[in-house]
Amino acid sequence: MPEAHQRAFDRLGDRVLLEVPLQPGIRSTLVHTEYRLDPVAVFGRDAPLVVEIGSGSGDALVEGARRRPDWDFVAFEVWRPGIGHSMAKMGAEALPNVRIVEADAAVALGTALSPGSVQEVWTYFPDPWPKTKHRKRRIVDADLADTVLGLLAPGGTWRLATDWDDYAGAMRTVLDAHDGFTLVSTDRAPLRPVTRFERKGVATGRRITDLAYAPR
Ligand SMILES: C[S@@+](CC[C@H](N)C(=O)[O-])C[C@H]1O[C@@H](n2cnc3c(N)ncnc32)[C@H](O)[C@@H]1O
Repeated sequence: MPEAHQRAFDRLGDRVLLEVPLQPGIRSTLVHTEYRLDPVAVFGRDAPLVVEIGSGSGDALVEGARRRPDWDFVAFEVWRPGIGHSMAKMGAEALPNVRIVEADAAVALGTALSPGSVQEVWTYFPDPWPKTKHRKRRIVDADLADTVLGLLAPGGTWRLATDWDDYAGAMRTVLDAHDGFTLVSTDRAPLRPVTRFERKGVATGRRITDLAYAPR
C-alpha cells in the first residue's frame, strides 16, 4: 500500500478497525460464527446503522459518514490497501461514526449482526466477475439477499450500484423474484459519490445502474 495510506492505517487502525475473532485458518477472512457486533457498544449511542459490503477505497463510506454524522457506518472489506486508503481519506482524527471490519462481508453479515438492526446496506460496484465461468463468484445472489433481508430494519433499504449491465440484470432477476423485497428506486443513491469505478465505467461507455430495494 502507498506510504501515506500505510501511515494512516498505523495511526488510525486502533480507532477505526474493529477487532473481530476469525475462524481458524491461515489468512482466514471469515468472522467467527460466535462473534456478535454490538453497534451501541461500539459507537456509544443508538443511531441508524449503515453497513457497507466491500467499501474499497472508502469513497462512499467516508463521504456518507461525513454527510450523516447522526448515522453510524460499519464497512466490511477484505482488501487492506483499500482500508488504508479509506483511513487516509478520514483525515487526522478519523471519523467517530465509522468502523471497518477486515473480513468477508457475506459471511459476517450472516452471523455478526442482529436481525432487523440495519437501516441501509450498501453494495456499490461489487467485483463484476465479467467472465461467464466466474459469475458464480459474484457476491449479490439469492443467499446474500436472504441475509440482507434478515438484517434490514422496517423501512430499511438495500442500495446497489454497478456499471456492468449483465450484473445489473442479474441483481434485478434475483431481487425482483425474491418474496421479501420490492424495488423502490432506480435513482442514484442519495449519498453515493462518484467513485473511481463509476468514472472508469463511464469512460469505457458502460451505463451505471442504481437499485434500491426495501423489505415488502
Ligand atoms: C470493485 S470494488 C468497489 C469498491 C467500492 N464499493 C466502490 O464503489 O468504490 C469491490 C470491493 O469489494 C471488496 N470485496 C469483494 N468481495 C468481498 C467480500 N466477500 N467481503 C468484503 N469485501 C469484498 C473488494 O476487495 C473490493 O475492494
